[in-house]
Amino acid sequence: MSELRTEISRRRTFAIISHPDAGKTTLTEKFLLYGGAIAQAGEVKGKRARAATSDWMEIEKQRGISVTSSVLQFQHSGFCINILDTPGHQDFSEDTYRTLMAADSAVMVIDGAKGVEPQTRKLFRVCAIRHIPIFTFINKMDRETKDPLELCEEVERELGIDTYAVNWPIGSGKEFQGVYDREKQRILFFQAEERGKKVGSAEVALDDPALEDMIGAQKAAALREEVELLGAGREFDMEAVRNGTLSPVFFGSALTTFGVEPFLEEFLRMTTPPLPRVSDQGEVDVFSEDFSAFVFKIQANMNKAHRDRLAFMRICSGKFERDTEYFHVQGNKKLRLSQPQQMMAAEREIIDEAYAGDIIGVFDPGIFSIGDTVTVPGKKFKFSGIPTFEPEHFMRVSPKDTMKRKQFIKGTEQIAQEGAIQIFKLPGAGLEEVIVGVVGTLQFDVFQYRMRSEYGVELYMEGLPYEHLRVITACPCKPEDLVLCTGAALLEDFKGRLLVAFGGEWSVGFLTKHNPGLELAESLSV
Ligand code: G4P
Repeated sequence: MSELRTEISRRRTFAIISHPDAGKTTLTEKFLLYGGAIAQAGEVKGKRARAATSDWMEIEKQRGISVTSSVLQFQHSGFCINILDTPGHQDFSEDTYRTLMAADSAVMVIDGAKGVEPQTRKLFRVCAIRHIPIFTFINKMDRETKDPLELCEEVERELGIDTYAVNWPIGSGKEFQGVYDREKQRILFFQAEERGKKVGSAEVALDDPALEDMIGAQKAAALREEVELLGAGREFDMEAVRNGTLSPVFFGSALTTFGVEPFLEEFLRMTTPPLPRVSDQGEVDVFSEDFSAFVFKIQANMNKAHRDRLAFMRICSGKFERDTEYFHVQGNKKLRLSQPQQMMAAEREIIDEAYAGDIIGVFDPGIFSIGDTVTVPGKKFKFSGIPTFEPEHFMRVSPKDTMKRKQFIKGTEQIAQEGAIQIFKLPGAGLEEVIVGVVGTLQFDVFQYRMRSEYGVELYMEGLPYEHLRVITACPCKPEDLVLCTGAALLEDFKGRLLVAFGGEWSVGFLTKHNPGLELAESLSV
């Protein structure tokens, strides 16, 4: 096999999604420990590590959070693994969703005591759009949890995906004895594991009387019954895993490192190497000699002294080499990508090469937009765009000082163009007042901060009660004659499209009932 093919084949690129506190950071750290990318737990989340990374935005320092998702690379069992971290709830933003566009699969961490939580649901929905494989890690089995059968049912019911339990827990909390690996017919006994030390395990068939001696009569009976129930359900189907309709489920405890290694091994076995991406000229061969990538995230002002921006790209084909000439399709310009970087745990590193599946951050002098394609000179295809996600929070925004109108418009437009916020206005109105829509409220803080520090504009910001936004695709009358429910409003975006913003989901029913012929698109990306 050529070097290119070998390198690409060993790439695995996935996102970790969860509701805050389910154990995503802990699980990530344990992965990194296995990969030897960090020396001790606590390094991923520690504020100390973050301060050492670079000059993060002031706002990140003030709040001790990371505004954007990070990408971590490590090696394990011959695989080169890229983890795309998605930030927690205060840090939640549209970037979180976009990050999922760069992944080939997702690991969903669920707190065994809590089950499916709101943020799991939101992130899952975005993964489901892309039909990527989703692996479920049910965490905190060392604590009292919900009934495991109930947990699987909850995932199926709430998320609309089938599940297949690869292993099955034996008790939970104080009674937790370990997990039973269904395929290998093996018990993995629970004991907190130190790095490098193997946990105890024993091969035993379920009908073997020795099972009673190992875990006690009561637990053995429960295990037999539950696994039998599972067996009567669904078969394992790799095809269904690969197209995202069946989620393999694993039980474990990230904090005590229990079940993490078997999970990682199975996960690596079941996931695919980088998947081909679709462009306007058809599918792009991942193993092609020609480099191609798309921009899924732009992070501004990581270093205030240089006012720089980093554009994060997912490499879709070939090999990236530093100091090589590439082609920015949307800008119709040749360019060299300077300061190509990758994140290694908390460290940022300048790299010389990277392969399809990898994520690189490059210095952006202000030329890139979200969704842009970079190829080799002579190739002009464009990867299909990144969807626009529906904002859930809205504010009316204007400059405090009316003399700053020009800077206000410039800043708002630029920040919106980067994809950090979405902007709208009242139909027919000018730009002295805009309506800003975001997916996570942190985006408002970032916007306000950047308007002040980069454009010198202080803002008036007033919250609006909308929660949803739909594009009007067919309007039966003059827009101003539409019958709107209380709390709804007509807005216009910068493509000149007419939209309706409203509160509860029920408003859609009201609008369509009172305005026969009115049609609203399901998604903003129409
Ligand atoms: P997140 O990134 O999904 O937000 O979760 P994180 O890993 O930070 O874990 C949230 C809390 O849950 C942490 O405790 C962590 O130690 C704990 N935790 C994670 N996995 C397990 C597990 O398998 N079992 C148990 N019992 N606890 C687990 P904390 O007290 O909030 O934070 P810390 O002070 O320990 O960092």
